[in-house]
Amino acid sequence: MYRTHHCGELRKEHAGRKVKLAGWVDSRRDHGGLVFIDLRDREGVTQVVFDPSSSPQAAELSHELRSEFVVQVEGEVSPRPEGTANAQLPTGAIEVRAANILVLNRSGALPYPLDDTSVNEDLRLEYRFLDIRRRLMQSNLHQRHRVVKVIRDDLDEKGFWEIETPILSKSTPEGARDYLVPSRVHPGLFYALPQAPQQYKQLLMVAGIERYFQIARCFRDEDLRADRQPEFTQVDLEMSFPSQEEIFALVEGMMRRIWKEVLGMTLPEEFPQMGYRQAMDRFGSDKPDTRYGMELGDFTEVFRSSSFKIFAGAVQAGGVVKAINVKKFADVTTGQIEQLTEMAKSFGAKGLAWIKVEGGEWKSPIVKFFSDCERQSLSKNLNVEEGDLILFAAGEWRASCEILGRLRMHLAELLTSQGKLSIDPKAWNFLWVKDFPLFMKDPETGRLAAMHHPFTRPHPEDEQKIETDPMGVRAQAYDIVLNGVEIGGGSIRIHEAALQKKMFKALQIPDETVQEQFGHLLKAFSFGAPPHGGLAIGLDRLVMLICGASSIREVIAFPKNARAQDLMSHSPSPVESKQLRDLQIEIKKK
Ligand code: AMO
Ligand code: AMP
Repeated sequence: MYRTHHCGELRKEHAGRKVKLAGWVDSRRDHGGLVFIDLRDREGVTQVVFDPSSSPQAAELSHELRSEFVVQVEGEVSPRPEGTANAQLPTGAIEVRAANILVLNRSGALPYPLDDTSVNEDLRLEYRFLDIRRRLMQSNLHQRHRVVKVIRDDLDEKGFWEIETPILSKSTPEGARDYLVPSRVHPGLFYALPQAPQQYKQLLMVAGIERYFQIARCFRDEDLRADRQPEFTQVDLEMSFPSQEEIFALVEGMMRRIWKEVLGMTLPEEFPQMGYRQAMDRFGSDKPDTRYGMELGDFTEVFRSSSFKIFAGAVQAGGVVKAINVKKFADVTTGQIEQLTEMAKSFGAKGLAWIKVEGGEWKSPIVKFFSDCERQSLSKNLNVEEGDLILFAAGEWRASCEILGRLRMHLAELLTSQGKLSIDPKAWNFLWVKDFPLFMKDPETGRLAAMHHPFTRPHPEDEQKIETDPMGVRAQAYDIVLNGVEIGGGSIRIHEAALQKKMFKALQIPDETVQEQFGHLLKAFSFGAPPHGGLAIGLDRLVMLICGASSIREVIAFPKNARAQDLMSHSPSPVESKQLRDLQIEIKKK
C-alpha cells in the first residue's frame, strides 16, 4: 500500500497514528538540523519533518529531495509545537514526523516555478502536465467534473438519454469552417468533424427517442478568442413535443441545481427574458451584460429635423440616433476621445460625436447646433448630470446599436479599473434572449443566411413572410446569456419537409446541394417527424464563469493556443509520406 491517508486528510485527532503518505515534494525548507517538506497530492498538503536525532537515515535522505520529486513517507502524526500551527491550511494543526522515506521518482529542474502566475501562457501549455499540478488548475478541472456530474444526474432524472453520435460525420452548417478528415477507403472523399451534433439529434427525435442529451465534442475551424476553441464541448440536448417555455424551465432547473450543488448558491426560480430587438436597443448586444446600466437611449425622433446635419441626415436615410451616458467620465482626455473614436470607427462608425458635462456646461464641438428641445430630451432621457460624458452613434439601426454596445463594454471595463463603476462580483445575471431574426445578411455576399441555423423554425405569425419580407421574420430561437457571455443557444425546429425546403429555397441553396447535403433529413421528415426543439450549452464557457476564469483554456485540460496548436504534443504536425500516399493526397510545395 502506497498510502493510508491523502495529504489533505490529517487533523489533530490523528495525533499518535502511524501513517503513510505519497505525493510530490511541494517545497523543502532546511532549518539547519530539521528539514521540512510540504508533501502535496491532489487533495492537499501535509508538512513532513525530518529529525536527525530520531531518524538519522530518513533525515540524511531528505537533503536530496527537490521540488516535484515523488516520495512515499512513513511516520507518526504529531501536533505542531505551540505557535507553529497554520490556520490557513486544513492540515495546519499537525505534521508527520518521518521515520522512513522512499524516493519513488526524481524530477528534473523545473522549466519555471510552477506557481509563477506571470509565466507566459505558451510555456504553461507546453508543460501542461506540470501546469495542471497547480492547485487552481486542479480545482478548475474538479469543478468541471462536478458540473458535468450534476448535469448528467439532472437530465437522467428528467428522462433524457445520453446517446453518442458520430465524430466522423458529415458537414453541418453551423456557420464555421469544417475540419475535414480524408477517407482512405474512398480516396478523394472526406468526413467532416461535427461542428455540433445538430442533424443527428434531430434524427434521433424522428427516431422516437423523445429526450436526448450528449456531452458532445464539437469542432469548428474559426478565429480563436478567449471564449473560443477549435475543439470544445457542448451539453447538447433535444426533446420532442416541446414548447419554448418548457425548454427554458428545463435549463433553468439545471442551472439552479448546478449552482446549488457546486457553488452552494440559490438562483431565482425564473430567469428574465428579453426580445432580441429590445436587447439590441437597450444594450447594443444580443448577449447583454445586465450587471450594470449605461443603457442606450434612442433619439431618432428628436433629431429628425435637427440643424445638426449629421444626425438629421442619418435619420432621413432611415437610420437612428443612439446615445449612451458614461457616468463620471467627463475628465476624459482629448487623446482618449481620439482613441474611442478610432475604436468606434473600427466597429464601423463614421464618427463619434460626444458631449462632456463640466462646470455646469455642455462642452462639445456640436452642441452649438442643438435646440433647447433636443438638449432637454437628452438631459431627461439620459439623466445627464455634472461629470457625465455622452457618446453618440448615428446611422443604420443595428450597426449604431452595436457600435455603442461595444463601446459600452469597453468603457465598463475601463471605468471599473478606475474605480468609477462597480460591478457586483457576486452577481449571476442570467438572461434569455429570444425572438431572434430568422435570417441575416451575409456580410460578404449580401445574401440571406440563417441567423442560428437553417433548421430553426420561424415564428408562426411570421411564417408567411419568408418569401415576401424575410428580414422581418422572427425565429423561435433563443440564447441563454450569463453576465454578458452567451453560454447556450437553441431553437424550436422545422419538422416538416415542405417548410424545410422553403427555408433552403430562401437561403438560395441549389436543389442539388439540398439533396446532396440534407436529403437524409428531408427523407426523415417525410416519415412522421414529431415537433421537436432543443439547445446546446457551451460547457467550457459555463465552467469558465463558475470558476471565475478569464478564458476557457483555464478549464480545458489540453487546450489549443490562439493559433490552434497543441504546444505540448506539437500538433498539427507533418505525417509520413506513406500515410499521404494511402490517402492519395499530395502536398503542394510552396
Ligand atoms: P451554437 O452554435 O450557438 O448552437 O453553439 C452552442 C454554444 O456552444 C458554445 N460555443 C463555443 N464554445 C467554445 N468554443 C467555440 N468555438 C464555441 N462555439 C460555440 C457557445 C454557444 O452558445 N446546434 C446548435 C444548438 C441547437 O440549436 O440546439 C449550436 O451548436 O456557448
Ligand atoms: P464633423 O462635422 O465631421 O467634424 O463631425 C462632428 C462630430 O460628429 C465629430 O465628433 C464626428 O466624430 C461625429 N460624427 C460624424 N458622423 C457621426 C455618426 N454617424 N455618428 C455619430 N457621430 C458622428
